[in-house]
Amino acid sequence: MIDIDRVRADTPACSRIAHLNNAGSSLMPGAAYDAMIDYLQREQAIGGYETAAERESDTARFYQEAARLYGCSPEEIAYCESDTQAWLKFFHSLRFSPGDRIVTTRLNYGSHFVSFIQKAELGVETVVVGCDANGDVDLHGLEKSLDERTRLITMSHIPTGGGTISPAAEVGRIARDAKVPFVLDACQSSGQIPVRVREIGCTAMTATGRKYLRGPRGTGLLYVERSFLGQMEPTALDQHGVELLDANRFRLLDGARRFENYEVNHAARVGLGAAIAYANEVGMEAIGERVIALGAVCRQLLSDIPGVTVHDRGSVLGGIVTFSMSGMSPREIQQYLHTHGVNISVSGGAGGRIDFQARGIDSLARASLHYFNTREEIQKMAGLLAQAR
Ligand SMILES: Cc1ncc(COP(=O)(O)O)c(C=O)c1O
Repeated sequence: MIDIDRVRADTPACSRIAHLNNAGSSLMPGAAYDAMIDYLQREQAIGGYETAAERESDTARFYQEAARLYGCSPEEIAYCESDTQAWLKFFHSLRFSPGDRIVTTRLNYGSHFVSFIQKAELGVETVVVGCDANGDVDLHGLEKSLDERTRLITMSHIPTGGGTISPAAEVGRIARDAKVPFVLDACQSSGQIPVRVREIGCTAMTATGRKYLRGPRGTGLLYVERSFLGQMEPTALDQHGVELLDANRFRLLDGARRFENYEVNHAARVGLGAAIAYANEVGMEAIGERVIALGAVCRQLLSDIPGVTVHDRGSVLGGIVTFSMSGMSPREIQQYLHTHGVNISVSGGAGGRIDFQARGIDSLARASLHYFNTREEIQKMAGLLAQAR
């Protein structure tokens, strides 16, 4: 059981605002904020390189805690500046030839489609698997779409624009049977529900720091399965990712850190490490159960309000709740709630465009619950919406 009073006390803004925008950017727990500020102060006091040498164990903690969270080894983790950067680093290191195929789903994140369009110019085809009548990824269609030309399966575990939790382990099984690499974009699922890479069977996985992991902005990570690493040479390698032997030769580092850049924000990495340690301590099973339960409460309370429509689809739903209301645009809903101390966001940009286009939706209001949120906060939002009518 999560000690809600404690986690809310560790999150000072909870006393002032109802932050239901955790799929946008969550609130850092005090421990993550303190670790980051303390690191910055040390840099200010003794110098950046000197702090890095003195605080090696803080840096190592990021890799250890991430490995604990995902059930992998620290050597399989690379620190990146966002989910998209992690995904791009992996994707563009794969070698595609004309005629190759990429398989993805309609619920996949928008930025990835930019890369698919770039690859199409080289003759690489992308197959976009749709959803069944329930709103779930059509697994049968996904399996059927694989053939000898398929070089990659990639999908978002939870989309940006809805609560659907896709069956990642099922896709992992299909990918393994077909011997096709599988990259899971766990941007919204990391820190929201348990994500165990060995159980899922993905080849690579990407995550961002600022959302459900509750880390600082501008942070993210990449997991790459050790057995696959041997085949991978990052496209944009710097001297940190290799051992430079002489003017003509280098040797790649053994682990996933070959994907990292030499220069990163050290304080932010320490902050993300502390945020992940906090999630590990609270416990991902308990977090996942509470987020799913709060999501269900929110959908129920919103559906009870005349004029409000909940749009989430799928048989397993998490803490992202999308809705619309007659007489108010999603932007107006967001602004109105914000003036009353409730943070939500609007979903409708490029991130979820492929799915929204297929559903004929322009934009939706999006409330995204985390474990430190309460039923009272959801009731407050629902009450405000009922009054606004
Ligand atoms: C499902 C999903 N994937 C990827 C991303 C991109 O994450 P980042 O902004 O950290 O690159 C987002 C951001 O909203 C997302 O919702």
